[in-house]
Amino acid sequence: MLQSALGIEESITRLKKEKKAVILAHNYQIPEVQEIADFVGDSLALSQTAAETTANTIIFCGVHFMAETAAIICPEKRVLIPDLEAGCSLASSINAAELNSWITEHPNAVVVSYINTTAEVKSLSDYCCTSSNAVRVVNSIPADKEILFLPDMFLGSYVAEITKRKNMFVWPGECHVHAGIRTQDINAMLEMYNSAELLVHPECGCTSSTLYDISSGQLLKKAHILSTEGMMKHARNSDARQFLVATETGILHRMKKENKSKEFIPIKEDAICKYMKKITLEKVYDSICNDVYEVKVPKRVADKARLAIQRMMDLT
Ligand code: 13P
Ligand code: SF4
Repeated sequence: MLQSALGIEESITRLKKEKKAVILAHNYQIPEVQEIADFVGDSLALSQTAAETTANTIIFCGVHFMAETAAIICPEKRVLIPDLEAGCSLASSINAAELNSWITEHPNAVVVSYINTTAEVKSLSDYCCTSSNAVRVVNSIPADKEILFLPDMFLGSYVAEITKRKNMFVWPGECHVHAGIRTQDINAMLEMYNSAELLVHPECGCTSSTLYDISSGQLLKKAHILSTEGMMKHARNSDARQFLVATETGILHRMKKENKSKEFIPIKEDAICKYMKKITLEKVYDSICNDVYEVKVPKRVADKARLAIQRMMDLT
């Protein structure tokens, strides 16, 4: 079938049926890709959907570690990513050799890796976690056990503060997009929009100060630290009419679409993940049409990484 004979969206929908494929998209994808997807969600929901799908092929519209996670969970399925250059600066902040030498320094510690890590790093970990279950995962580990938490330092400090854990070591990694959302950005926007609720992703550079302001009462009931799907749920259920959103701006498409009477304002217009934006409709078409680019994880790595992911899934 020639794509030019039909619109690109219709061609993708047709090929999807023919090939028994499913399209999964992260909340930060461009609007056109979100619209063509069968499911849009956060890292945890995408992993759960990958685990449950009966499709033969998963077209993963997100970044590479997410597609790798789907390939680990579903070794019998074909997982495709439309652009191999859709990486993640946070996942690149620690590699397997670095983690191995950190483990050597703390041989009895439990290793908790954020889902934003490579398959190899996950294979060296005891638990995986996402922004929506990191607190639950850490709370499930006996209090006397040391924890190595990686790679996001803002999420790690937030989890340590909430769980009151003193024996948790945090890797100094960061996401370049979220680290750039600083306390001064939040304060300036709160001054302009003083009746808005504030939604903050825990990878943000302002997470610790926001948490402090919530616990000291200054931002009580006004600010919420949430994963991208947690933000979606909160936007739906809150009575507020206006929201300041501290995360990658791709999420605003779904927020506005699903909450037509509410207003969503990004804290930073330029909080844009260039890796997430690598995926275009044309590349999705190419991916489904030509079965590119298959994401494969060696069995030796996948079998170990699956245990860490499964331990997380069992807790959620
Ligand atoms: P979520 O799990 O909250 O969707 O976050 C993933 C991510 O990459 C944030 O930058
Ligand atoms: Fe990675 Fe940051 Fe992009 Fe999320 S927003 S995929 S953490 S670079």
